[in-house]
Amino acid sequence: MIIIKFGGSVITDKKVKYKFRPNVTDRLVKEFKSGIKKQQLILVHGAGSFGHILSKQYELDKGFRSPKQLSKVAEVKKDVRELNLKILQILIRNNLNPISISPSSVISNNNKSISKIDLTAFDKPMALQFIPVTYGDIVMDEALGFSICSGDQIILHLAKKYKPDRVIFATNVDGVCTKPPGRGIKTELIEKIDLGSGPDLDLVKQIEAEMKVADVTGGIFEKLKISMEIAKSGVKTNIINGTVKNRLRDCVKGRKVIGTTILG
Ligand code: IPE
Repeated sequence: MIIIKFGGSVITDKKVKYKFRPNVTDRLVKEFKSGIKKQQLILVHGAGSFGHILSKQYELDKGFRSPKQLSKVAEVKKDVRELNLKILQILIRNNLNPISISPSSVISNNNKSISKIDLTAFDKPMALQFIPVTYGDIVMDEALGFSICSGDQIILHLAKKYKPDRVIFATNVDGVCTKPPGRGIKTELIEKIDLGSGPDLDLVKQIEAEMKVADVTGGIFEKLKISMEIAKSGVKTNIINGTVKNRLRDCVKGRKVIGTTILG
């Protein structure tokens, strides 16, 4: 099994509300299709500008604060579903058989973390070799009323349960760097993090220290945190740049590509 995440920053323009990138999405679908052999696939996609812009504007990530937010929650949930439909359309046009799984029907959060997930919703379509497709969404939250459930968090739960051969995050950067880029500081791409090997533990400690201050730099360190959690259950993760042609294809094929690999 391979679990692939199409990052919201790849399939949409994160700065422009509702700007979907159909050609990029179509290319990514063709790439994994040509790379994959007989393995089962689960596809998870982010929300990009269909989810993040309104969520940030109305502080939906903080949970229920005022009744004014409710119409915005409803809107975001509709928007991410519309994005999901666009992706299903592309999958079907490429002769694949996706089955969409609405996160809020199968997931509950407690204080922003998944507390319940009904995996039979994935098992049954997979038994017939459908491709389950799910996405980042707003779900009900036992403590906060509602909260955001990212595609990455869903992947963490799926990876722990299904122990896939690989998780691949298609992002808009080449991988994880030693320091957040863009502050004039010298930074290098980390090719491999092996949680099981001695020397890398120093690197992990260094990155963990960096993560504490890296919140403002976007999601890549958060992604690394999730990948390290996934690695603890023995599953390998590749963080690659999905905006570069053929990188996803080669990665699915098992070729060495530019990116960060995290091993348990
Ligand atoms: C975010 O999901 C969901 C909402 C904002 C509603 P993700 O965290 O998986 O989305 P991307 O990949 O960052 O866009």
